[in-house]
Amino acid sequence: MATANLIPYLTEEKIQQLNRAIGKKISEDYSTLLKTGEELLVVVTLKGALFFAADLLREITVPVRVDFVRLSSYGGGTKSSGTVRFLKDLEVPPGDQHVLIVDEIVDSGRTLNFLKDRISAANPRTVKICSLLSKPSRREIAVEIDYLGTEVEDRFVVGYGLDFDERYRNLKQIFELKS
Ligand code: IMP
Ligand code: MG
Repeated sequence: MATANLIPYLTEEKIQQLNRAIGKKISEDYSTLLKTGEELLVVVTLKGALFFAADLLREITVPVRVDFVRLSSYGGGTKSSGTVRFLKDLEVPPGDQHVLIVDEIVDSGRTLNFLKDRISAANPRTVKICSLLSKPSRREIAVEIDYLGTEVEDRFVVGYGLDFDERYRNLKQIFELKS
């Protein structure tokens, strides 16, 4: 695999440091919110958030249930198609639940705006959003990110779940992809 066009952006150590900080905050916030018998329903967006969620979930100390959704986004390129749809819907009904959506990066905001709307329509008790990365300069639709790792400038990043044409997801670090 050619790596000449991959510029280091976030180290493995930095990513895990962010995960621990977010996990701690989520655990603290929900420990007061979740009464006996209540659990947090964590909704992970496939495929990109898989690695982030796997690490983050192990930093969360409140009881969780985990579900996955898959939404259409980029196809094979680096530009959003504009429309969002479910390729795989929730399996756990979000009604009456405390829902935490976990995504790896918020770009235009379309994906999370769509997902949050859909979950909200099912009358959950609460819905919050967690994302490892955010590109605020690319936002087209406002999205409130309740738990954020760090902001990214307008650049295309890969690794740690983030892909370009399904490649690079398994890299332990996050890199900027130069075309
Ligand atoms: P949005 O709907 O435009 O916010 O895009 C969300 C999705 O686009 C993310 O969950 C990623 O799957 C993908 N995406 C956005 N920016 C990047 C990037 O820099 N690298 C890889 N995937 C990205
Ligand atoms: Mg994603």
